[in-house]
Amino acid sequence: MPEYSTTSPLPPWLRSDYNGALRAADAGRAVALWGWVASRRDHGGLIFIDLRDYQGIVQLVFNPERDPAAHAVAEKARAEYYLAVKGTVVRRSENTINRELPTGEVEVVVTEAQILASSAPPPFPLVAGSEAASEELRLRYRYLDLRRAEMQSNLRRRHQALRGVRAWLDGQGFVEIETPILWKATPEGARDYLVPSRVNPGKFYALPQSPQLLKQLLMVSGFDRYYQIARCFRDEDLRANRQPEFSQIDIEMTGATVAGITAIAEGMMASAFEYAAGIKLVPPFPRIAYSEAMERFGSDKPDLRFAMELKNLSAAFAGTSFKVFADALGRGDAIYGLALPGACQLSRRELDEMVANMHTQRERGLTWAKATADGNWQGPIARHIGETERARAAAAAGLEPNGTLLLMAGAADEIRPALGDLRLQLAEKFDLRDDALHFLWVVDFPLFEYSAEERRLVSVNHPFTAPHPDDLALLEREPLKVRALAYDMVLNGQEMGGGSIRIHDPELQLLALKLLGFERDEAMRRFGFLIEALNYGAPPHGGIAFGVDRLAMMLCGTESLRDVMAFPKTQKAVDPMSGAPSEVDARQLRELSIKVTL
Ligand code: AMO
Repeated sequence: MPEYSTTSPLPPWLRSDYNGALRAADAGRAVALWGWVASRRDHGGLIFIDLRDYQGIVQLVFNPERDPAAHAVAEKARAEYYLAVKGTVVRRSENTINRELPTGEVEVVVTEAQILASSAPPPFPLVAGSEAASEELRLRYRYLDLRRAEMQSNLRRRHQALRGVRAWLDGQGFVEIETPILWKATPEGARDYLVPSRVNPGKFYALPQSPQLLKQLLMVSGFDRYYQIARCFRDEDLRANRQPEFSQIDIEMTGATVAGITAIAEGMMASAFEYAAGIKLVPPFPRIAYSEAMERFGSDKPDLRFAMELKNLSAAFAGTSFKVFADALGRGDAIYGLALPGACQLSRRELDEMVANMHTQRERGLTWAKATADGNWQGPIARHIGETERARAAAAAGLEPNGTLLLMAGAADEIRPALGDLRLQLAEKFDLRDDALHFLWVVDFPLFEYSAEERRLVSVNHPFTAPHPDDLALLEREPLKVRALAYDMVLNGQEMGGGSIRIHDPELQLLALKLLGFERDEAMRRFGFLIEALNYGAPPHGGIAFGVDRLAMMLCGTESLRDVMAFPKTQKAVDPMSGAPSEVDARQLRELSIKVTL
């Protein structure tokens, strides 16, 4: 059993300073400190303890002759015990200075000490490098994991980013308004989390996937500049940059234009980076149309940290005698290529693997050609390609001597994303990315896309997005050609935020819903409250929402959202610490009129 030196719930004295804040200038000062034992070294006589709080660690010295009572406490202390000490800051002698530590020029000679809380041996060390502990273990003991300097810094930086966001939006006249969490299903493309209503048996609330419709209603009400740091819930397959529960900086404005909203959003992002990292961004960010992003990068969130763009090589291969390409062009398909610089060499085995993966993962063909130093081609298709087309393709693709050209033939919509993925994988493999912040806007998204699975049109953004005014006439005739007044902010290949100008005309909204397969009755049943509200003088409006967690991830340079959230879920949407989700009492289920049929 651990021993307690005090049973008092009150500390014997308050802290005068944070451990990590002590410097040479503090030498001679009497201080009172609190903190966890990060490490303890018993030299037989003197005991040294590194005492940690979120600001860092400072070395404590316990002298058995001068302060035997304090030394006796240090003898008992173990890793992660929580101590309160009093002592004097002294300069370390020149040869004992620790240049690695900000507090390394001083130590604290302790005169009084108390153990405020003992600790079981921690399941993993909490010093730098303990990231090596498995994620499952870290999440199981999340409160300890959060003690680590890295997690402390990440969550505090996230807080600074939100301060920057709030400062900017408040300064621009935005009002923060909270909206309900118990709410009705609204389509944002994911499954809903449902909450049964005890007092309305058989009925369910849905946790909001975003406050989309509520913020539009606030525009109808006259809160012409709204924002909220909103919690959103989406039951979707989790990835490193997705969590079932996450936060958005949710913004809506009346009288907004695309230029107006993107300018506000750029100012907000600049403020967040300034507050959290002291980085000055320089808006306006470049913007490119969705069609151009797909054409050049095979992605609607292009990573601009490296070049290596896709090229349409259909013209270069026109009239080719290579049957696969000729057949594709004959069908009206396209041929796209991606040229790897000569410095990035793939082995034959790696190329074969890439081709095989493309087959198994996407059921698509991929081929390649390697340029020799004198411009000849080697590889599976080399002998089928004539000299002229080879020269044309090499020029169009930007293929260098010794470079490798990856080639795909097929429907542009299918092969460009496939090459876009390869582009990212190769950048990772050959470390092609620079470390600058490449912001951009992707604009002019299509309003609809066709879902083969659902056999109907679906919204690319969401059903409340306004069509581009120049494309209104196409809405019923050729809906897939209609552009949306929608925009995404992208940073280094990550979607940071997205939004749109909204439909504020009830008839146009009903038409948009009809095109999505919601006949009038169904549309009214699901979204009647919105359509009704649009009948009462709804001003033109638009907005945007940013992922707070993704923003924090970028600011902290982490690879996973879990590193910037206090209590995230695992890939399986589980919290290993509390065991959520868990079974509930039969009585609770009865009260909710719910039967589990497992
Ligand atoms: P959207 O669905 O694009 O837009 O979401 C906006 C931003 O939220 C972040 N995000 C996520 N972050 C973590 N985990 C997730 N599962 C997750 N899903 C989304 C992303 C994304 O860019 N109502 C609209 C906004 C609007 O039109 O104003 C919406 O929610 O950073």
